[in-house]
Amino acid sequence: MDGAPSLAARPLAARISAMEPAGEAILRLVLEPAEGGSFPAWQPGAHVDLILQGADQGRAPLIRQYSLCGDPADLTQYRLGILRDAAGRGGSVLIHDRLMIGDRIAIGTPRNHFPFRAEGRLLFIAGGIGITPMLPMVREAMRAGCDWHLIVAARNRARLPFLSDLETLPAERVRLHCDEEAGILDLAGLLAAEGRDTTVYSCGPGPMLDALQKLSVDAPWQLRIERFAAAPAADEGGDHGFEVICRRSGKRLRVPADRSLLEVLREAGIRVESSCRDGVCGTCETRVLSGTPCHRDSVLTAAERDEGTHMMVCVSRAAGDLLELDI
Ligand code: FES
Repeated sequence: MDGAPSLAARPLAARISAMEPAGEAILRLVLEPAEGGSFPAWQPGAHVDLILQGADQGRAPLIRQYSLCGDPADLTQYRLGILRDAAGRGGSVLIHDRLMIGDRIAIGTPRNHFPFRAEGRLLFIAGGIGITPMLPMVREAMRAGCDWHLIVAARNRARLPFLSDLETLPAERVRLHCDEEAGILDLAGLLAAEGRDTTVYSCGPGPMLDALQKLSVDAPWQLRIERFAAAPAADEGGDHGFEVICRRSGKRLRVPADRSLLEVLREAGIRVESSCRDGVCGTCETRVLSGTPCHRDSVLTAAERDEGTHMMVCVSRAAGDLLELDI
């Protein structure tokens, strides 16, 4: 069996300084450095791992990723938005139900797999709690004087997230959309007039991002997305076994069809940092020296996949019979 998740860098000690509602089932969590001072710098689009100790102290901690939604210029605190997902894997429920103001919590250093560039025309499309990485991007776009618009979609008014933050933005640039009042957001209509100078940034539920990706295939505009969970794998037939050469460790290992590459590497004593193990956080990104990866993650862009120089070993595999990794 694969062991506990491991983190890329030594965790930071934080303390919860505020917890407040930010919409139905949405919590705004404010963290400050437990020993004072300031947190590491971050850029819009970054997320941090929260390292959550469950009720069973003997079990490995839960590690969950949440986007930073505050002001990158204020490093005395990190702000996060957390939707309580009762059907999820338990992390958000634990945060909502068990954490309290004053609690100490370990967090990872910020990582960014959703980088933002404040240039050209910008369209931000947020589905529910997907607003969190968008808020710092919007503020950055405002500072840079970009032409931007933000659409925030939710099931109903109660589920609209972070309204108090949205109300501070120029109203003429923000559109709130409630599915129960106006039907499902018409993405094709919304994007029909956008041209080559438009970049669409989006985060939200999988079906919304899937629809945007389909629309983007022949569109002149650019699309940048971040997923909460891995995209469904394309139907590539059943998995096959393959061999992996670990150049720096000097090992050659067999990855059976029913095991992940990450599991096999860790079982062989090769240290690989990991967190989500679902192909969404980017922690386990590993350099590929030879061979062709079969990408199953939601982190790399289409161009990065085509380059084939990096892969997420928690979910991705080999397209052929052999991979060589810089590990
Ligand atoms: S551990 Fe998160 S992408 Fe692999």
